[in-house]
Amino acid sequence: MTPITANDALHDFWDSAQLPALIDGLVEHGWYVGEGFLDVTLCRELREELERLHHLAALQEAAIGRGDERTLRRDIRGDAIHWLDRESLAQRRYLALMGELQQQINVALYAGLFEFEAHFAHYPPGAFYRKHYDSFRGRANRIISTVLYLNPDWPTDGGGEMALYDEHDTEREVARVHPEAGTFACFLSDRIPHEVLPTRLPRVSIAGWFRRNASLGGVIDPAR
Ligand code: OGA
Ligand code: MN
Repeated sequence: MTPITANDALHDFWDSAQLPALIDGLVEHGWYVGEGFLDVTLCRELREELERLHHLAALQEAAIGRGDERTLRRDIRGDAIHWLDRESLAQRRYLALMGELQQQINVALYAGLFEFEAHFAHYPPGAFYRKHYDSFRGRANRIISTVLYLNPDWPTDGGGEMALYDEHDTEREVARVHPEAGTFACFLSDRIPHEVLPTRLPRVSIAGWFRRNASLGGVIDPAR
């Protein structure tokens, strides 16, 4: 197993020239979308790993809500997931990049981001994820949401776009993200409503969240 160190040439795996625009986007609108953000080979390795997990039936149907309120609601959310667990070099590379991004965002925005959690997601044909926020104001420990898309040559009529809505005018769509491999989106978890439109083809991605530690009264916030 090759350990990933700070010296690993991370710049080989992402287009870090997009960082200033990413920071600006978060500050100005609360969101950013960059095409060709991540190296195609790393995206392919991540997609192959997700497809292996899918074929091994190692994905779990995604639930909504937390704690006692967790339920399966196919009418709200239709993906199946697997939490990243550092099993593969590709995962460790991606997590190292997100660690670097976390540091960059903290330096630029004093955001106090503390950790990153992420899962692979597989949407079968017909699946969608209705409009939602990734966290709620006040109890937000998910601060910034991220999505990396892994679908090479996604057709224009493939569906499965992510629609982002305006922070203040939540009915106004402000971006529609084609889930093409290498495209990376991020947005403020408690500000930006978003949805996954019904997909026509199997659709693969990695959804992740930068978190702040929300320990309260000696109770450590659970990781998931
Ligand atoms: C999510 C989510 C968007 C996407 O998993 O919370 O909104 O495009 N995903 O996969
Ligand atoms: Mn979401």
